[in-house]
Amino acid sequence: MRPSLAVLSLASVALATRPFLNEPDTGIDAVLGGTPDGSLPDLEAIQGLPDFDWAARRYLNDSSYTYYRNGAAGEWSYRNNLEVYGRYRLRPRVLVDITNVESTLPTTILGHNFSAPFYISPCASAGLAHPEAEANLVKAAYEEGILYIPSHYATLSLDEIAAAKPANGSQVIFQQVYLTSNDTATQEVFDQAKSLGSKAFVWTIDGPAGGNRHRANRYGVGSRNTNYALWTWAYYNQLRNMTDLPIVIKGIQTVEDVKVAIEQKVPAIILSNHGGRQLDSSPSPLEVALEIYQEDPDLFNQIEIFADGGVRYGVDALKLLALGVKAIGVGRPFMFANAFGVDGVKHAIQLLKHEIAIDAGNLGVADLKEIDASYVKWNNNGWFS
Ligand SMILES: Cc1cc2nc3c(=O)[nH]c(=O)nc-3n(C[C@H](O)[C@H](O)[C@H](O)COP(=O)(O)O)c2cc1C
Repeated sequence: MRPSLAVLSLASVALATRPFLNEPDTGIDAVLGGTPDGSLPDLEAIQGLPDFDWAARRYLNDSSYTYYRNGAAGEWSYRNNLEVYGRYRLRPRVLVDITNVESTLPTTILGHNFSAPFYISPCASAGLAHPEAEANLVKAAYEEGILYIPSHYATLSLDEIAAAKPANGSQVIFQQVYLTSNDTATQEVFDQAKSLGSKAFVWTIDGPAGGNRHRANRYGVGSRNTNYALWTWAYYNQLRNMTDLPIVIKGIQTVEDVKVAIEQKVPAIILSNHGGRQLDSSPSPLEVALEIYQEDPDLFNQIEIFADGGVRYGVDALKLLALGVKAIGVGRPFMFANAFGVDGVKHAIQLLKHEIAIDAGNLGVADLKEIDASYVKWNNNGWFS
């Protein structure tokens, strides 16, 4: 029987009025609500990545917190980035030997070995959360064996960030860049980052025009980009003549552009809408990954595809991995975790590693490399379907 119009409109009212929860209620207010403003709770009381947002909101001043938290315009993409994972149910398989799943967390990113299939996304101004700024992220990433991609707009200079790495040169980091038409400046940053040991560049292209940031503008911490940038595929090819390091493209949002990137022999791309900070109504990385998968799952084998945006739980990461995404970036949670310093960032990394492993185990995945799209019910396109 087809649902009546009345039922459909009731369902859409219910959908429309479903409150957005920046952090779903898992009891943190009841347990840690007494934490005075301007102070942090005990790190061991932090149970998951959303708790770091809760803690930072009480600890940081309003403008610093807002800078990190902000999304573009009405923040529909910011919210969608977080909510989209909940729209798809898992299809757990049972009676599978999953006892070694934790040992399958390690992966490679552009041929470099890391302990987990996620990395710290480039986020500007780590100094707003902690005086040691990006140095904490470098150290935590090293100690936990994951990739960190420092932002071009970091609080610390390239030299200061490099100085936080171990002296033996064993830590692999990639350098994110925002480029202008000033080729001299571009050449300088390419040369300097390479001489300091960066193994790849991540060129962010999802903001060719200024970000429309209502929330952040109120505090004077909105988008830095006030120009219209001339970024094209021809320019990308020109950049390749300026460095022999791989240049990853960050901010791909359609399957058409994935195909162009493959044609152009880009080594890797990042599906990202900049954490919903740049263009409201831009798609979440999960939606883009699904679009790619529906067009042709083999595209994931033709280029390394990473993705970031809204990942807060192990299951969020598993849904991206299930489609063929090779590694997952996490932004805000690590910036908020940095309020606690190196230990906070390490705790965040450990929590996400643990969640990915136990969630994969409960999903019946013995080896993370073997996860595929059959572990998720993808035609479930609404909270109530
Ligand atoms: C405070 C903040 C600053 C950011 N700065 C940069 C940046 O300098 N370069 C860049 O490529 N992306 C930047 N991003 C985007 C992140 O790399 C990433 O795409 C996004 O944070 C992922 O979403 P998530 O925060 O929900 O994990 C920034 C994001 C945030 C939250």
